[in-house]
Amino acid sequence: MKKLLLPALIAATFSVSAQNALEITVEQPKNEITIAPEMYGIFFEDINFAADGGLYAELVKNRSFEFTNSPLMGWLTYGKVEVRTDAGPFPRNPHYLRLNNTGLLMGTGIMNEGFRGMGVMEGKHYNFRFFSRAVGLGEAKLKVELISAANDIIASSEAEVTSGEWSEYKLQLKPDRTCSRASLRIGLVSPGELDIEHVSLFPADTWKGRENGMRKDLAQALADLQPGVFRFPGGCIIEGNNLETRYQWKHSVGPVENRPVNENRWNYEFQHRFTPDYFQSYGLGFFEYFLLCEDFGAEPLPVISAGIACQWATDECVPMEHMEPYIDDALDLIEFANGPVTSEWGRVREEMGHPEPFNMKYIGIGNEQWGEVFPVRLEAFQKAIKSKYPEIAVIGSSGPSADGKRFDYLWGEMKRLKVDLVDEHYYKDPEWFLASADRYDTYERKGPKVFAGEYACHVPDRKNSFYSALCEAAFLTGIERNADIVRLATYAPLFAHVDAWQWKPDMIWFDNLRSVRSANYHVQQLYRLYQGTNVMQVKAAEENVTGQNGIYASVVTDENSRQLIIKIANVNKSAIPVILSLKLKGLPEVLKGNKIILKANPGDENTLEAPELVKPDESDATFTGNTISLQVEPESFQVLVLEI
Ligand code: AHR
Repeated sequence: MKKLLLPALIAATFSVSAQNALEITVEQPKNEITIAPEMYGIFFEDINFAADGGLYAELVKNRSFEFTNSPLMGWLTYGKVEVRTDAGPFPRNPHYLRLNNTGLLMGTGIMNEGFRGMGVMEGKHYNFRFFSRAVGLGEAKLKVELISAANDIIASSEAEVTSGEWSEYKLQLKPDRTCSRASLRIGLVSPGELDIEHVSLFPADTWKGRENGMRKDLAQALADLQPGVFRFPGGCIIEGNNLETRYQWKHSVGPVENRPVNENRWNYEFQHRFTPDYFQSYGLGFFEYFLLCEDFGAEPLPVISAGIACQWATDECVPMEHMEPYIDDALDLIEFANGPVTSEWGRVREEMGHPEPFNMKYIGIGNEQWGEVFPVRLEAFQKAIKSKYPEIAVIGSSGPSADGKRFDYLWGEMKRLKVDLVDEHYYKDPEWFLASADRYDTYERKGPKVFAGEYACHVPDRKNSFYSALCEAAFLTGIERNADIVRLATYAPLFAHVDAWQWKPDMIWFDNLRSVRSANYHVQQLYRLYQGTNVMQVKAAEENVTGQNGIYASVVTDENSRQLIIKIANVNKSAIPVILSLKLKGLPEVLKGNKIILKANPGDENTLEAPELVKPDESDATFTGNTISLQVEPESFQVLVLEI
């Protein structure tokens, strides 16, 4: 048996005859290995328009006129429009507009372009909301319209601003046709002046019907993963390019109108994907993240700044003597999530409509930090958190790469600090993924556990090809085998807008109306839905199955559903015979269940136009005796789910 290190190259000429089937034995391990119930989950970051312009269903870009140095970005104005900052209704978002209809024929108004347009559907309702005051005497009348890409008016309504005090106004729009690139026009049709602020348009039909809600199809795609853990809100955005622009969770709670806008550090990160109109409204903030966790039954895993800004960018560091507010942010966050309603931050949660605690168990400190500046700051967090909340698991970091000097140094420090878990990141090529299925076989069992917090297989064109997903499936057999040390795993990144991405590959792609689940999504889903509870020992000639004959395998049982679950990836271009001898006690004579297979051409990729090119195929499976003989299909990942 031969372990293939470069299967993509070798596979073309490699074949195995029935005589040299790969013989695998499956046994109970000497020591029980249980899988964390929340093992496989999701990692969400506002990159690629994942939040604003994506999951967060708001259709208006720059609704508060707060984009830094460009309060009118995303807006077209006509007639007499002035940006003002005196005495607006929301102190943390000071800009608002004064419209003055002087009676010119053109009139006065504003138009919003949305996030690469607005996706609206025929016959559906859209909730339009704004804050306004009439200036001077009298009332003011606004015409509110949705305009199609072909410049037709596809929905229209009117609003009357009746007060000279700032007040909230609402109306509904119902487009008479579907359009993926509509825009919003608001015209002041009565003569005189009016002030306007926080101009918002949401589909009425959001996920769970929430007013400040999520786009339904995208939230559903997450729900269908049944994620066990939900890491948020990043990624690099928690660090910020500098300390000023780090993600501050306290800015993301309370009334949405008063959540201050922050720049999105992915706006100018890549010159070839320059996105200067990318900001964070914080409309999808920590309260909404916790709610989503509750909806999905996922453990919340918030990550906050360690007092170090992106080290690739500015490397700004908070002096140790000024770390207190950062550490308070961590303590207050735990209080916000779990504290009684009588506590300061528990009360904020209650005021937002959730008196019950969110039962948060994990907190991540820092993202991809490195060097001595990190452990010393992490230690301060760790001490403060553990002395007040010993039950909270603290997650440290091993930096931006999967190995090397920085990685080794940080792992040493994480052990010294006795953090509960260490976040590891790896964006690597197929060869690495296939050669690393044994990565955790030799990890030290004492000390911190592993959270594989960001990983993805990057093929040369960085497509979400079936081959990239297959390599991840093969690698994940190793994660599953080592579930005693790897307690959590999340693919990255999660979402990308086809017209506004900065980074690929990504698990779910979307435009303004449609979404598509990648081959990688299906691998994640299969691992999650069939993750089991207990790891079995799987050996071929006394070795873990990590690429012999191009085969990767892991086996688990599920004590709750009484299932034996066998996962096999074949990275060869030919079918491989495999014989599994099941040396497990109490198996039925006939094993019945399903075979779920993911199989496609290596370069196949699901797209909005062909969303189901790569998808799992399910069939019945029956085996007799304690031996399972298979011809494992070429370039395939299969899961056998058998009743026991
Ligand atoms: O997932 C995209 C980025 O990759 C994350 O923000 C960062 O943590 C990593 O470098």
